[in-house]
This record gives sequence, C-alpha cells and structure tokens, in this order.
Amino acid sequence: MSANSARITGDNKTFETSVKLGSVGPSVIDISKLYAEIGMFTYDPGYTSTASCESKITYIDGDVGVLLYRGYPIEQLAEHGDFLETCYLLLYGELPTPAQKADFDYRITRHTVVHEQMARFYQGFRRDAHPMSVMVACVGALSAFYHDSTDISDPQQRMIASMRMIAKMPTLAAMAYKYTVGQPFIYPKNELDYTSNFLRMCYAVPCEEYKVNPVLARALDRIFILHADHEQNASTSTVRLAGSSGANPFACIAAGIACLWGPAHGGANEAALKMLAEIGTVDRIPQYIARAKDKNDPFRLMGFGHRVYKNYDPRAKIMQRTTHEVLAELGIKDDPLLDVAIELERIALHDDYFIEKKLYPNIDFYSGITLKAMGFPTSMFTVLFAVARTVGWIAQWKEMIEDPSQRIGRPRQLYTGATERDYVPLSRR
Ligand code: SDX
Repeated sequence: MSANSARITGDNKTFETSVKLGSVGPSVIDISKLYAEIGMFTYDPGYTSTASCESKITYIDGDVGVLLYRGYPIEQLAEHGDFLETCYLLLYGELPTPAQKADFDYRITRHTVVHEQMARFYQGFRRDAHPMSVMVACVGALSAFYHDSTDISDPQQRMIASMRMIAKMPTLAAMAYKYTVGQPFIYPKNELDYTSNFLRMCYAVPCEEYKVNPVLARALDRIFILHADHEQNASTSTVRLAGSSGANPFACIAAGIACLWGPAHGGANEAALKMLAEIGTVDRIPQYIARAKDKNDPFRLMGFGHRVYKNYDPRAKIMQRTTHEVLAELGIKDDPLLDVAIELERIALHDDYFIEKKLYPNIDFYSGITLKAMGFPTSMFTVLFAVARTVGWIAQWKEMIEDPSQRIGRPRQLYTGATERDYVPLSRR
C-alpha cells in the first residue's frame, strides 16, 4: 500500500481506495464507494472521525489551538479587522480591497431593514418567550417575504439571500430583545457601522438619542469575528444537511439556529453564566469540580471542553482579554462572576481529570460575563452567537451548493432492531 492508498477488510472482502490529502491537517480515506463494493458501512456516531465534506473556508488544529478563516489566523483578524471584513473574507475567500470593503459595507447596510409585516410575527409570542424561539420562527419566516432570492440554482439569488441574511439578523435579534423588554422596535440607521447599528437597535429608545460607546461596539464586533465560523460544527452541519435537499437558505439558517440553541453547542454561553452564578463564590468551586468529575452526575462544566480543541480554544484567550477590556470601560472593578470564572479556570487547568481529558475553556466560558456586563440578558447570549455565525453558515451553505459533487446528505445506520416478523391480531396478543 502506498501512502496515498488504503485497504479496508471486512466480511472476508477487501476494499481498496485512495487517500485524499488536504492543504493542511488530516488526510482522508475516500470510502464513498465502500458500500457499493463490499456492502458494508462505516460506523461513527457523533462523526468524531468523519470528514463530511471538502471545504476551503475554515481550518482548525485542535491539538495546538489554531483557527484560520481562509488561511488567516483568528488572532490577526480579531486584532486588525472588523466583522464585515471577516464576512467578506468568509464569503469570497480573500480580504477585500478598500473599494470592495466600502461596496460590501454599503450593500449590507442597505439590506438591514426587514419587511414591515415581520413585526407582526413578534406579537404572536409571549413577552417571556426565549428569544431563540423567536429567532428560529422569524428567520424561517423570511422565506415567506423574499421569494426573489430563494431559487438556489441562481448564483445572483444565492448572493442576494446571503447579503439579506447577514444584514437582517442583527435587526431581527434586536427586535427579539426589544419585544422581551416591552420597548418599541428601533429601525437601523445607515450612518452607523454594523455592530454600532445593532447596539443602537437594542438600547436606543424613541424618547432620546442613543450614543454608541465605541469601546463596547469594538468589543462586540470582535466577539462577532470570533464566532463567525468554525468548520463543520453541529449547527453548520445542520445547515449543510438542510441545504443538501434544496431547501431555501432562510429555512436552512433557521435549522442552524435551532441546533445552535442546544446547551452542548451555542447554548453553552448562557448555561456557563448560569453555572457561574449558581456557584456564586470561589469557596463553592470544589464541589462543582467534584460533580463535573463524577461519572454518575450529568453535570458538566459549561464553557469547558470541545470536540476538536484538545488545547486552549484560541478564541477563549481573545474573549478573556475582551472581557477585561469591557469591564474596565464600564468601571466594573470586582465582578464576582469573573472572580469565580478565573479561579474555576485555574483550578480546572491544574486538575488531573481535566488535564487527562484535555478539557480547556472554550469560547463560551468568558463570553457570558462580557455580554452580561454590556447589558444583555442571558437569554440573548445565544442569539448573539447566531447573529455572528450566520455568515459562517451562509458561506458553508454556498460552498456546498456550488460543489459539483454535491448531493443530498443521507447517512445510513447499524440496524439492531427486530428482524422481520408477522403481525399478531389484537385478539391473540
Ligand atoms: C461550541 O464544534 C464546535 O466547533 C462548537 C463551537 C463552535 O464554534 O461552533 O466551538 C461552539 O459549541 C463550544 C462547546 C460549548 N459546549 C460546552 O461548553 C458544554 C460543555 N462541554 C461538553 O458538553 C463537551 O465538552 C462538548 C459537548 C463540548 C464536547 O463533547 P465531546 O467531544 O463529545 O466530548 P465528550 O462528551 O466525549 O467528553 C470526553 C470526556 C468525557 O468523559 P469520558 O466519558 O471519556 O470519561 O470528557 C468529559 C466527558 O464526560 N467532559 C467533561 C466536559 N466535557 C467533556 N467533563 C466535565 N465537564 C465538561 N465540560
């Protein structure tokens, strides 16, 4: 066997195939003809060893804690660029020239308003509805308003739908927040940048002008960059699978939002803050560490661990710095939640259980503290994650649609249920 070939033997049959090399990272064994040739499936619940697609968008090296968007390190993008620049990069594959950036910003800005009738959907929810339930519903409902950008076979319509999704998510998210606090919706203002516009739509009231704090706007814009894309995570895989059937992009993004809501995924930022609040004080940390290590206790340290990162999540380091920046700007000297988080991290990183299982803080560990300090309720944390991740979902969806080898996703199974048996009439049971 050469380095570029592989052989699988099972059921007294042998399957020989090629090994595909990536530009960086693990190679893959092409098993696409395995079932056709030897009548067997591979088995990989949770897809821990499965590459579902070929992609050029985001690369993660979990062992060393590397995250690249189109080859650019997340640290450099977060430091030097803004979120819309990252959106352009993820969508088009290259950093924009000044003219391209200005045009992209202009186009996104002028898609930020939603159809006026969208506001009526919000009236149907209870005021205490979780904003993620509102987002799943309202983003899915966009497909009822924008029929001129749902023909996925038309590249022009695909790009308009992409721009609309990126542009309208902050507006829908701000409306979801305003609805929970019983305040009137605030329209976007074209003179503001993307993230300042979002902050104003969340916190302005009609009675007086709202002045955006540039430090907070920059911090939130950086948080959006950190959350923009992350390879084939659960919600991105959901969007790809939904899109593989030809579903319209708005419905696919709504499916991604639904998946992101889970506490094991995007819901972890909300769960992590609730966990820190429940721990409350540093002296209560040991009992929670013990629970996290107890096999019989389903409790896990929220914001810790990751399917891919077996080292420090590079986003978490930037997130931690942003947390300190925001707290300093707001004059918050001693945040008890931050004290608990820092001590919990210190203890966990020196604990054999966490070291052996390579459990490190992930992006969700510090984000909640920052967003709470900025005035967002915990129920809005995953909504903000969804706002940022929309560009990643859209970029991955576009890449899948434009892949000539693309076909409907349809995994198989290992069946261990009853074999065929005859029906027994009720009178004889
Ligand atoms: C995100 O995939 C992505 O890229 C996601 C994301 C993105 O940007 O899209 O990065 C965003 O979702 C970040 C992850 C947020 N979730 C959490 O913080 C929730 C807490 N974390 C865990 O639920 C867990 O770590 C997962 C879900 C993140 C990862 O789960 P895996 O890869 O399936 O790991 P596992 O459950 O198999 O854990 C391996 C071992 C287990 O012990 P053993 O069965 O081997 O004895 O580590 C233990 C787990 O019990 N473990 C933890 C733990 N996470 C894993 N123990 C205590 N606390 C934890 N947080």
